[in-house]
Formats: sequence, C-alpha cells, structure tokens
Amino acid sequence: MDVNFYHQTCEEFEKFLIASKPKIGGFHPHFAHAFWEMIENGGKRFRPKLLLSVVCASNPALSQNAFLPALALECLHTYSLIHDDLPAMDNASLRRGHPTLHHTYDEVTATLAGDALNTYAFYLLSIARLDDGVKIKLIRELADKGGIGGMIIGQAMDCFFEGQRLEIDKLEEIHRNKTAKIIAVSLKMGAIIANVSSELEGALYDFGLKLGLYFQIRDDIIDVTQSEEEALKTTQNDAGKNSYVNLLGLVGARAKNQELQAEILSDLEHFDGGLRSNLNALLKDYL
Ligand code: IPE
Ligand code: IPE
Ligand code: MG
Ligand code: MG
Ligand code: MG
Repeated sequence: MDVNFYHQTCEEFEKFLIASKPKIGGFHPHFAHAFWEMIENGGKRFRPKLLLSVVCASNPALSQNAFLPALALECLHTYSLIHDDLPAMDNASLRRGHPTLHHTYDEVTATLAGDALNTYAFYLLSIARLDDGVKIKLIRELADKGGIGGMIIGQAMDCFFEGQRLEIDKLEEIHRNKTAKIIAVSLKMGAIIANVSSELEGALYDFGLKLGLYFQIRDDIIDVTQSEEEALKTTQNDAGKNSYVNLLGLVGARAKNQELQAEILSDLEHFDGGLRSNLNALLKDYL
C-alpha cells in the first residue's frame, strides 16, 4: 500500500474519533461534555498515527479494525495530559488551545474526566474487532507502558524531583518512562494488530523509545522557545523541572536532539518500503 492509503486512513480516523463521543448517563450538568472535550479540542494525534502507520503498511485490510485501539491510545494520552496539567502536577492553564479542564470547570471534574478516559481506553480495546488473543496483548501492553511500567512511574519521578537537580542519565530514565514508552508501545500495538514478525515488533519498539526521547527533548525545547499561542499550551512552565534544557542548556539540548535525529533517520532506512514511507510522512513534521 502506498503512502496515500495511510494519509487517507489518518483522515478517516479523525472523522471516526469525532463521531465516537460516547453517550454518558446521569444528570450531571456538564460532565459528559467535560469528559470528551479535550479529545475534541485537537492535538496532533501522534500516537494513533504511529499505530496506523504500521497497520496500513503491514496489514492494510485491518486498518479500520485498528481505529478503536488507535482511539484507545489517544484517550489514555489525553487523560495523561489532563492530569499532568492539574495544579498538583504541572499547574498549566492552557492545553490544545483551550483552557485546561480544571480552569473551565474544577479540579474534581478534571480529575474524574482523566480517570474516565483512562478506563475508557481499556473498554475500547476490549470491544475492538480483533481476535481475543490480540486484544489481551494490546491491553497488557497499554496497561503496562501507560501505567506503572512507564508513564505513571515517569510522571511520579518527574514531579517528585522538581526543584532537585538530577544527573542526565536519571532524566533520560524519566523521559523514557513518562513519554517514550507510550510512543514505543503505539508502534508495538500496530505491530501486534498487523501480526508482524517478532523481530520487526522488537525493532519498532526500540525505534519508538528513541523517537520518544527525541519527542520529549523537543518538547522541553518548545517550553522555552515557543509562546502559548505557538505551542497551544502553557509554556515557560518548566523552570523547576529536570528538563534537557535545564540540565544541558538550550544549545546542549538541541545538540543532543540533533544526534538523536541522525540516529532516527538512519534507523528509518532499515524498515521496509511501505513502513518507511508511512513513518517518513508522519515524522517529517517532527524531524
Ligand atoms: C504532549 O504530547 C506531552 C508530551 C509527551 C510531550 P503531544 O505533544 O503529543 O500533545 P498533543 O497530543 O499534540 O496535544
Ligand atoms: C508530560 O510531559 C508527559 C506526560 C506523560 C503527559 P510535559 O509535562 O513536559 O508535557 P507538556 O509540556 O505539559 O505537554
Ligand atoms: Mg509534566
Ligand atoms: Mg506538563
Ligand atoms: Mg513539556
């Protein structure tokens, strides 16, 4: 399949996502809206697009069946952002070009909207049109890398060590956990759905870890170099954090990312034609 199929699939996925707003029971005046609001407010959909890049290249017949797992990834990621922005964590007021949920509503609503998106992600995986064995693997991977084996422990270390300067290898461990593992598992989930060889699945996961580190360092740089209007989220907000910019300086952080970028571009060459084209198309905006 050529790269146009991938582009088309990503466009269809966005429509599917917008049409997927769940019906919520109860008589709460605004919770149903608050729950889905951050999903509708946009975002780059980077993690779903990573998953779809693998399925479109390796098993295009399953691309539509991959929409629910792709949406599950976006739900879990969006939950992580809503909680990340809470006053107790990064205390941010703007996300995806809109006020954060705790500003629009209150902390209870933001906390519970995040909780709901987290569990909803696994509900979506369970109802995907895929073999049960495949779904168990997807649930296991997302629960681990999106949970205590990745994002959560990363966020816990990120927040605990605020105001306390860490060594660079410890910061790399934080970034690998809080960000890179979900990016890597997005590719791996695509590999599981497409039923590719275990070699390719492993290579995609390792590639994703490198890409995820690059992505978070790029985000550390955005915090100091972009305005809120450019980034569509609160910036100049990492002063107390262990970030690559704070540990290495802006020049050092950029140099590290240039090194990673060169490795990523060379790793990309090892993937087969269709997969390479899809990943190149997605990553050209980032590299
Ligand atoms: C922001 O993720 C949090 C990080 C891991 C850096 P994204 O930059 O993918 O945010 P959205 O999804 O586009 O809003
Ligand atoms: C967040 O990292 C990573 C997550 C797991 C959500 P950041 O705190 O740097 O993300 P932004 O800059 O607020 O988007
Ligand atoms: Mg944070
Ligand atoms: Mg943050
Ligand atoms: Mg950041």
